[in-house]
Amino acid sequence: MILLQDGLFHRSEVHIDIEDRGYQFGDGVYEVIRVYNGQFFGMAEHMERLERSAREIQLQLPYPTDLLQERLNDLINATKLKDGQVYLQVTRGVFERMHHFPVNPKSTLVAYTKETGRPLDKINQGISAITTEDIRWLRCDIKSLNLLGNVLCKQRAKEANCDEAILLRGNTVTEGSSTNVFIVKDRTLYTHPANNYILNGITRNVIIEIAKTQQLAVKEESFDKVALMSADEVMVTSTTMEITPVTTIDDLQIGSGSPGPITKQIQVKFDEKVEKLLTAAN
Ligand code: PDD
Repeated sequence: MILLQDGLFHRSEVHIDIEDRGYQFGDGVYEVIRVYNGQFFGMAEHMERLERSAREIQLQLPYPTDLLQERLNDLINATKLKDGQVYLQVTRGVFERMHHFPVNPKSTLVAYTKETGRPLDKINQGISAITTEDIRWLRCDIKSLNLLGNVLCKQRAKEANCDEAILLRGNTVTEGSSTNVFIVKDRTLYTHPANNYILNGITRNVIIEIAKTQQLAVKEESFDKVALMSADEVMVTSTTMEITPVTTIDDLQIGSGSPGPITKQIQVKFDEKVEKLLTAAN
């Protein structure tokens, strides 16, 4: 089942026009929301970010986010989604192709579900990453459909047999191609400040909160490649990858070469939040 604007349809019934501006220009915004045990994780934060992204590109959502939440609940009930994710996108709708905004646009909203388990092997064992130039635009804070820069960077990682590309703007580490990046040095966590160079991740903010409860210092400060490579621990975070340790970057071992104690400590606390949903009756 697919949520299209305000109704549920079978996939074969859904038709997206070739002149939808999302299809032609990437003119729209999106969210990926995790579902554990039939319950949304961080729904309020995702709705808030969606509203912000829409506002930043002057896109009118078709209806308020409280109604959208109800519709998304209907969607996961109709699909009986237990563990997985909801992909949601809103575009500036269909109009004869021209770059500037149409007058009175009617946005297109589509959401669908995907069943996926937690990537536990990677969460437990860690991944390898490459560093590569951050070739994206200057509004990475907007969760826009324009992901070509991210796609090309992730493809580089894939071709190097790695799971993530860590992006460098000049010498500054910004984020991953589809994740935020944290490093640990002397029990302090560092992550790039939430400005226009990164997406302010929902998982990123959960981790900052957890670190505070664990008496770990967090500095939202940019750091360079030397700091990245000489960190005690490196982790990438996202809705789908949760908290994944990075044990090798550009073929060089990070810290001990296995998931570090601070990463594990934060993972335990994150798991407690997930467990709460997994054990809750719905
Ligand atoms: N990506 N940075 C970028 C560039 C991202 O694409 C993502 C998420 C994040 C992490 O944000 P969050 O913790 O809110 O998921 C950071 C999603 C999952 C995706 O595009 O599939």
